[in-house]
Amino acid sequence: MNSELRDLYAKTKNRKILELFSSDSNRALQFSARFSDMLFDYSKTNIDDETRTELLHLVETSGVAEKRDAMFAGATINETEGRAVLHTALRNLDGGSVFVDGVDVMPGVLETLDRMGIFANDIRDGTFKGQGGQITDVVNIGIGGSDLGPAMATLALAPYHDGPKIHFVSNVDGAHVADTLRDLNPETTLVIVASKTFTTIETMTNARTAKAWLGEKVSDPSAQFVALSTAADKTSTFGIPDERVFGFEDWVGGRYSIWGPIGLSLMLAIGPQAFKAFLRGAQSMDTHFCNAPLHENLPVLLAVVGVWHNQVCGHATRAVLPYDQRLSRLAAYFQQLEMESNGKSVRMNGDDIDGHTGPIVWGEPGTNGQHAFYQLIHQGSRVVPCEFLLAAEGHEEELAHQHELLVANCLAQSEALLVGRDLAEARSKNSDKFTGVELERQARHRVFPGNRPSTTLIYPKLTPEVLGQIIALYEHRVFVEGVILGINSYDQWGVELGKELATALAPVVSGAKTATDKDGSTQQLVEYVLKNRS
Ligand code: F6P
Repeated sequence: MNSELRDLYAKTKNRKILELFSSDSNRALQFSARFSDMLFDYSKTNIDDETRTELLHLVETSGVAEKRDAMFAGATINETEGRAVLHTALRNLDGGSVFVDGVDVMPGVLETLDRMGIFANDIRDGTFKGQGGQITDVVNIGIGGSDLGPAMATLALAPYHDGPKIHFVSNVDGAHVADTLRDLNPETTLVIVASKTFTTIETMTNARTAKAWLGEKVSDPSAQFVALSTAADKTSTFGIPDERVFGFEDWVGGRYSIWGPIGLSLMLAIGPQAFKAFLRGAQSMDTHFCNAPLHENLPVLLAVVGVWHNQVCGHATRAVLPYDQRLSRLAAYFQQLEMESNGKSVRMNGDDIDGHTGPIVWGEPGTNGQHAFYQLIHQGSRVVPCEFLLAAEGHEEELAHQHELLVANCLAQSEALLVGRDLAEARSKNSDKFTGVELERQARHRVFPGNRPSTTLIYPKLTPEVLGQIIALYEHRVFVEGVILGINSYDQWGVELGKELATALAPVVSGAKTATDKDGSTQQLVEYVLKNRS
């Protein structure tokens, strides 16, 4: 990271964030940005004017604007896979042509979206039937980007569900598919096989299991299968007719694919209209990202806050803390988005990257996390920058008082992280219970260092449009961080070695082959499995 930023950190690291508020009564306003009805408040960080200027200068000198324009224009910015990166085209509902290799991709994108809409309506109104009548349940079989996005968003938008019940199966662990299918009726269940490549072992194994399950009850299992994939040849080999294949191009990365066919399960749940509102939300964030000046640009600001905390201050992790039970899969979704995109160690040209790259992203919804890991966030020896997400109102009008409690808790947590509690206050709070040496000892356990950074993204309500904005915001944030770090955010070679070794180990674990070329530990574990199963 550049030396100016390192110097600024050295100069300010012992400063209290609270001092920044006392010296500038406008700090909250000055260190916030708005987009649409959304407010991003990063004033509870140690970033001051000088630091922000330097961080935004870094954005300028890293070539973010040029790379961004290249991405939106369909250039081959995923250089290690020789592909464009155009998930933005999937939500470009009225933005005009987008060219890849001289061909406008938009007619194809819009045609597929229309086909998805027609199919979704047919399922939802019963025009398309299972072999036992109207489809009541849909099982999306996919993993990684072919699961996390639709699973997260379908849960998030539960108040908008008015279609069949949607289930998600991802893990190759047979428990997942078995537990999901157990209570479903094969005659009224639609199975979606969601896989960009249509080769992923987990997905194809679960798809075959589901096909066998359907085959026990219905005469033509393939008739209740849908495929979402870029590999049309493989979907037809699996037996899924072309009219039920929704294709997309290789310029849509798995973890960026919710906006197109991979979002079909979400569309079935909330309907094509609400799905379009979700796309429009994302598209509005794209426009903002392309046009807003850097100091008002939400993806840029999230990115520089991230770079400041991770690369400059050295805080390795980042907690995603949505105060919304329906966003309970958001941290998992962001884990893939951020860690698969920016968890790399070499630059585009193959040179080693000096310093740390993508952060470790984790989290749980509030208030649950408060009763689990917030202890460490408040009093642990490591600083964990926290990212709160909060809606001003919930969907349960009759339970508005519970939403008020949720809001109060969220705001209280960011306040507590900022303000802390010093020894004097801890002493005085406990002087009625303890005295002397014991008071001192007890008070020390009750000190909160405070001065722990957090940001809050707040919006009126979690509608399809707002969810689209939030996801696109984080996608672009990851892009900006990737450009600053010099990373190709769009490949994922780091997942390959494990896949190869698992394929080689499968016959060893099944007992069909012996392997003597394994390390001692792996050999011992294989032997244990072989001995300890019936
Ligand atoms: O193993 C990683 C990965 O390739 C992800 O990037 C992707 O989202 C996931 O597997 C699933 O891939 P597919 O959609 O091709 O089944």
